[in-house]
Amino acid sequence: MKVAIIGGGPAGLYAAILLRKQRPEAEIAVYERNRADDTFGFGVVFSDATLDNFEKYDPPSYRRITQEFAYWDDIAVHFRGTVHRVGGNGFCGCSRRKLLLILQERARELGVALHFEADIEDEARFADADLVILADGVNSRFREKYIDHFQPEIDVRTNMFAWMGSTRPLDAFTFIFQETEWGPFIAHAYQYEVGRSTWIFETDPETFERAGLKGLSERQSADRMAQIFGWFLGGHQLLTNRSMWRNFPMIRSKRWVKDSMVLLGDAKASAHFSIGSGTKLAMEDAIALADAMRDSPTVAAALEKYEHGRREEVEKTQHAADVSLVWFEHVDRFWDFDPVQFAFGVMTRSKAITYDNLNLRAPDFVAEVDKAFAKQVRSSGFDIDIEKPVAPMFQPFRLRDMEIANRAVVSPMCMYSAEEGVPRDFHLVHYGSRAIGGAGLIFTEMTCVGRDARITPGCAGLWNDEQEAAWRRIVDFVHANSAAKFALQLGHAGRKGATKLMWEGMDRPLEQGGWDVVSASSIPYFPDSQVPREMDRAAMDAVKAAFVAAAERGERCGFDMLELHCAHGYLLASFISPLTNQRTDAYGGSLENRLRFPLEVFEALRATWPKRKPMSVRISATDWADGGITGDDAVQIARAFAEAGVDLVDVSTGQTVRDAQPVYGRMFQTPFSDQVRNEARVATMCVGNITSADQVNTILAAGRADLVALGRPHLVDPAFTMKAAAWYGADGLFCPPQYLPGKEQIFRNSIRDRQDFEDLRIKAKPKTRAELKAEATKPLAAE
Ligand SMILES: Cc1cc2nc3c(=O)[nH]c(=O)nc-3n(C[C@H](O)[C@H](O)[C@H](O)COP(=O)(O)OP(=O)(O)OC[C@H]3O[C@@H](n4cnc5c(N)ncnc54)[C@H](O)[C@@H]3O)c2cc1C
Ligand SMILES: Cc1cc2nc3c(=O)[nH]c(=O)nc-3n(C[C@H](O)[C@H](O)[C@H](O)COP(=O)(O)O)c2cc1C
Repeated sequence: MKVAIIGGGPAGLYAAILLRKQRPEAEIAVYERNRADDTFGFGVVFSDATLDNFEKYDPPSYRRITQEFAYWDDIAVHFRGTVHRVGGNGFCGCSRRKLLLILQERARELGVALHFEADIEDEARFADADLVILADGVNSRFREKYIDHFQPEIDVRTNMFAWMGSTRPLDAFTFIFQETEWGPFIAHAYQYEVGRSTWIFETDPETFERAGLKGLSERQSADRMAQIFGWFLGGHQLLTNRSMWRNFPMIRSKRWVKDSMVLLGDAKASAHFSIGSGTKLAMEDAIALADAMRDSPTVAAALEKYEHGRREEVEKTQHAADVSLVWFEHVDRFWDFDPVQFAFGVMTRSKAITYDNLNLRAPDFVAEVDKAFAKQVRSSGFDIDIEKPVAPMFQPFRLRDMEIANRAVVSPMCMYSAEEGVPRDFHLVHYGSRAIGGAGLIFTEMTCVGRDARITPGCAGLWNDEQEAAWRRIVDFVHANSAAKFALQLGHAGRKGATKLMWEGMDRPLEQGGWDVVSASSIPYFPDSQVPREMDRAAMDAVKAAFVAAAERGERCGFDMLELHCAHGYLLASFISPLTNQRTDAYGGSLENRLRFPLEVFEALRATWPKRKPMSVRISATDWADGGITGDDAVQIARAFAEAGVDLVDVSTGQTVRDAQPVYGRMFQTPFSDQVRNEARVATMCVGNITSADQVNTILAAGRADLVALGRPHLVDPAFTMKAAAWYGADGLFCPPQYLPGKEQIFRNSIRDRQDFEDLRIKAKPKTRAELKAEATKPLAAE
């Protein structure tokens, strides 16, 4: 077998090593345009988990790599004169030059032919090779040559960065967030060998411009950075090596394989430097390709296996890198945060590290985070313990005169079980049990303001006396038997009306017994859905009056809060999104115009709803579709409602158009809540695939939302909050007397269960290489 590898970076060299080990008879050659010991940049980092992989696949190179490595356990965050250190991270740094020399040496030993100063212009010269590996880096000539086939998507990010070095020793992965007269600068720095550290500097384009970095030479810009970070560098130099300021290209390729050619490493997909995974991805690609070659009968089958088997892992890492880079791009959102909350945000930015996870590794840090959170709560007027505070989830919150005992919320969820809009015994039990289960706030399902405002025949409503009486019975039960506050969500289905019950066909039109539907414009949801009538002024007035009448009924029922449903493609949302609003009057066109009718309805409700009671609005912060609402629009929408008096923005997403492309995942809508809260400066509630109390605490402690709603988790577990309170030992939670023995038991058992769980987690966690090294070098205690 003959294998030609274009590019002698980590991906190309490691692939050569692994394939040659697997097939000692194969003719394998690497072609690298640079000289053997040329390299750009300084150090690379690997996690312990990546090193475990290297140990498994090639012990000799692993041993040499780890002999050369600098280890560290801590991450240190410097911000506004404070430093917070968090241990237990297990990272290693190594010079990129040494890494490449080790891999070259190992490849040579195995009999790989290495050709340096061989700039390959045309792969046709490898026509006789069985496999051609394109490991030619982020600017891959061959990916671009076959652009129509590989279909790369290159997202050039806005922030500027430059990669430099220094002689400053570091004992932690160090982030420095530096305020300057021009704006914020960030340094990502780590030591990779004795007396050498990598320094990546990052800033936004405006700060870059104001700081006069444009047009400076490499040396001059290094001097400018040395001035800014001089207080930390302590007289150490900044070193340069092709340290030009650039923008990071986020690369994703639709295809990785063309005939017998395959893209590997940065050539096919890049991952932002802030999660230090570029070299890891490149070398793990080589592992995946070697595995596929071992397990497949032909090269073609192996390449197919590599492409399909590897993609998910790469996309996961890229997603984490994306989330992280976006955090750094928007660091100004958090600039006025308390430093410990800021540091918690840095640690938890890419979702891999959570509140509980940090509590195991750095309990003192989390205790500080809890205290900072509690202090904020206390300064908002609550008489709470700030020395030994409960976890953020169990801290109270206030909206106008309404106080909520904790931050867990039952999200609005249609039950499709009303009869002619009247909630029944099912609803009494449903809402009653969730209220008793401990959530601070519960929402009704979307409650429709008229018969024709319903989504389905099973939707609840509040337009007549019978419905009002039925709701009042439920509200009274909740108030009499729990400490939960109860919010009424009012909505109008718009073009999604007259559809089937969820379990009979979500959003599908009713075959019989339907009613006429209205919307901002006459665009049906599905091609075979009912075509809605575009609303005229009279119809708008009638709908507004229906909302006001329902709110008056809601007040008589005793609801504590009112939410206006402007999300998920229903009537008011259909005005806001340009995908569903094509009007040419004052209610269409600009965002300001599209918001006009929803704001009119909101203002009418605000005028009716008692001043002491809060109001929220649920929005879709993105349509997940080209040309639709984006996070930036959501900030404008939130500001407009805030000006009209909204107390809380309930940040959901999507369900506007049926061909949307949502990116699901854990807590997938939380970044939008973060953006709205910290840019529009309005209280938010987040929701969406949040399934554990750990995630709730992570979101709250990082300042990404003020309240956290859980929908589906509450469908199967009404006592979600009570159980979480027991786990965290937050025993102030209300419990009706009938259930007290159960509460006492779970609180008693949880202390032991949690201790057992933590002991197990600690025992199961392998020692990091830094810990092992520290143990090995510790002087023996005297006998
Ligand atoms: C600022 C910055 C910081 C980073 N920090 C880290 C970090 O801390 N940890 C980490 O793991 N990763 C880091 N990376 C990423 C890392 O450098 C890359 O992800 C990794 O090197 C990718 O390996 P590769 O083999 O795919 O590509 P490269 O290392 O880019 O190798 C490609 C090789 O192909 C050669 N080549 C290109 N075209 C041709 C041709 N036509 N003919 C012959 N040879 C050719 C190039 O000379 C090069 O040597 C960082 C990247 C940047 C930009
Ligand atoms: C069965 C069901 C019914 C729903 N009904 C409503 C509703 O009436 N109003 C609303 O705003 N959202 C509704 N949603 C959306 C939820 O409130 C929530 O935003 C969504 O389920 C994501 O949260 P989760 O991952 O915690 O379930 C509904 C969701 C489900 C699963």
